[in-house]
Amino acid sequence: MAETPEVRKGLEGVIADESAISNVIPEKRALYYRGYPVHALAEQCRFEEVAYLLLYGELPTQAQLEAFAQEERRQRNLDASVRHLLALIRSDAAPMDVLRTAVSLIGANDPDASSTDLEAIRRKSIGLLAKLPTIVAADRRRRQGLNIIPPREDLTFAENFFHMYFGEVPSAEVIKAFDVSLILYAEHSFNASTFAARVIVSTLSDYYSAITGAIGALKGPLHGGANEAVMRMLQRFRSAEEARRWAEDALARKEKIMGFGHRVYRYGDSRVPIMERYTRQLAERLGHRELMAIYDALQEVVVQQKGIYPNLDYPTGPAYYMMGFDIETYTPIFVMSRVAGWSAHVIEQLAHNRIIRPLSRYVGPAERSVLPLEARR
Ligand code: COA
Repeated sequence: MAETPEVRKGLEGVIADESAISNVIPEKRALYYRGYPVHALAEQCRFEEVAYLLLYGELPTQAQLEAFAQEERRQRNLDASVRHLLALIRSDAAPMDVLRTAVSLIGANDPDASSTDLEAIRRKSIGLLAKLPTIVAADRRRRQGLNIIPPREDLTFAENFFHMYFGEVPSAEVIKAFDVSLILYAEHSFNASTFAARVIVSTLSDYYSAITGAIGALKGPLHGGANEAVMRMLQRFRSAEEARRWAEDALARKEKIMGFGHRVYRYGDSRVPIMERYTRQLAERLGHRELMAIYDALQEVVVQQKGIYPNLDYPTGPAYYMMGFDIETYTPIFVMSRVAGWSAHVIEQLAHNRIIRPLSRYVGPAERSVLPLEARR
């Protein structure tokens, strides 16, 4: 008798395809984008260089970076339809829903949306990379009844986002910490949202549908939504002692603590030490010692009692808080960066496409007869 294959809940441990985009090595707590260690990229590159690397496979030369940045800066403005959407959509709509709807609208208005030409998809990716920050910032400002600030072409990706969000560009130190968070968020192999994007495009559906679906997947608190959940949790405590007591009780109740655990990294997330260093520097500079004491106390309890380590969302939540962003825009910021990884995966999937269609094991009722309506009880 043929052996029935094992069902892997949540596809744990299943290698679904090959990919040349990023390599996660959990036992070494290491992550590489296209062969480059992520910590070296975070230290030495700007987010734009990393986005280029993901999309084209190589780090850009000076000339390539300039051309890429120019192309991105040129497309930052929103067209009338997206501005109109922002005026129409409920002012208390969740920012992730606004972003998802805006991407869908941009796709519906792109006459070339269904092109599977890889160069055309790269161009569309740069278009979204350029527009997503404008949408996030404009949405936040209209929600707060503030004037919308148009993008500036003379600023970097990170600087321009702060400019549109707050009306000013912060110190180089804050910009670097933000850029590092974008680099670390940009790509992470077959995570749920990336896999969702690959499934969608594997049917030869269009690029925008894949990104819209990926945004929907990222929104959940078990995935990208965790960075917001982390900050809402940390904000509840007035002292490290209070955080410690709460964490002990929560673990005793078998509750999940946001910002901890990872499907792939069982001994710690490779991105955390890098981000944590920047989060601590920000806290020192901006005077958030108490917040970091709470952060440390909670981490100590979860690591010691459960042996579960923080993931990237744990240090990023407080970093974004110290930068002044509203909590509900943390996951949209994640989208602004991860769109680079999603787009690289859409391109890779299309280059070697086969529709993604796994099996399920049926566990429902055995065959039975359909009774006439009047005979059913
Ligand atoms: N807090 C407390 N316990 C946790 C935990 C957390 N954040 N994450 C996992 N665990 C525990 C589970 O309760 C489970 O314990 P059990 O075996 O006693 O039942 C065990 O660790 C395995 O967890 P499981 O949920 O099966 O792991 P997973 O691989 O399916 O899920 C996550 C991975 C990331 C979804 C999960 O760790 C989680 O929900 N984390 C919180 C959300 C988060 O930070 N997401 C961002 C991910 S980058």
